[in-house]
Amino acid sequence: MATGSGDSAAVKIVWNERQKRFETEDKKAYLQYELRNGGKLMDIVHTFVPSSKRGLGLASHLAVAAFNHAQSNSLSVIPTCSYISETFVPRNPSWKPVLYSEDLKSSI
Ligand code: COA
Repeated sequence: MATGSGDSAAVKIVWNERQKRFETEDKKAYLQYELRNGGKLMDIVHTFVPSSKRGLGLASHLAVAAFNHAQSNSLSVIPTCSYISETFVPRNPSWKPVLYSEDLKSSI
């Protein structure tokens, strides 16, 4: 079973502001987001890792980069992507305070 922790120092994630992505340098793995509510909300709509690189924690590195960015810029995250809502946040509950609240979400 791979945890991905052994690779963490080697993984470089780049913020592609124009395309609203966090991605690997080769652009093959990425996390796609949309900005909502005048730029105050980061809606993470999709995460993709090529099948040959799955299960190594790469999506987790992408998510950490996105959540760090959101926190540093006072953005709240909408976890539309199931990887974020069902896997990343439950496994990393310390990021829960950065999530947008469900109650407010329905009024967007
Ligand atoms: N939704 C939620 N969780 C998922 C998932 C999905 N569609 N696909 C895989 N996972 C979970 C698995 O439970 C896995 O856990 P395990 O390692 O204990 O088996 C965990 O993700 C792996 O985490 P990590 O190594 O950080 O992810 P990854 O680098 O393998 O990438 C995806 C995960 C989802 C980005 C990758 O499988 C992928 O690109 N899938 C196709 C696109 C997709 O379904 N994206 C998510 C919906 S937007």
